[in-house]
Amino acid sequence: MKLMIAGALVLITLSTAAMAEGDAKAGKKVFNKCKACHTVKEGKNKVGPTLFRIVGARAAQVDGFKYSDALLDAELTWNVETLKAFLTKPKELVPGNKMSFAGLKKEQQIDDLIAYLVAESEE
Ligand code: HEC
Repeated sequence: MKLMIAGALVLITLSTAAMAEGDAKAGKKVFNKCKACHTVKEGKNKVGPTLFRIVGARAAQVDGFKYSDALLDAELTWNVETLKAFLTKPKELVPGNKMSFAGLKKEQQIDDLIAYLVAESEE
C-alpha cells in the first residue's frame, strides 16, 4: 500500500513538473480562498472536508464528513487533472455537488494551488 502511494505521488510529481510548473508558496496564498471551508490538517473538517493528503486520494473518502450523493457517486480520484477541472468549474465536473464555490479563473492560480496541495500531500 505504502509503495502504491509512493508510486502515485511520483507520477503526480512528474505530471505536475510537466505542466507549467506551479509554485507551492504562491499556492499557499491562493488557498486562503478555500480556508473558510477547508483545512489541510488530518481529521479537521469544516464546512468542507479536510484536504489532508487529498492528492492521490479517492473523492469523498474523509471519515465523518457528510458528502453530497453527487460527490459520493462521482467515482473520482483526485490528481492534477481532476483537481484542475474541479477547481476551474466545480459544478461542471461534479454536477449537484454542494461545494459553494464558483471556481478559479486564472490558470496560474490553479497550478500554484495544486502545487501547494501536492506538497502538502507529500508530507
Ligand atoms: C463555501 C465553502 C467552500 C469553499 C470556499 C471551498 N470548498 Fe471545497 N468543498 C466544500 C464542500 C461543502 C465540499 C463537499 C462537497 C460535496 O459533498 O458535494 C467540498 C469538497 C472539496 C473537494 C473534494 C474533497 C473530497 O474529499 O473528495 C476538494 C478537492 C475541494 N473541495 C477543494 C477546494 C479548494 C482547493 C478550494 C479553494 C479554491 C475550495 N474547495 C473551496 C466547500 C467549500
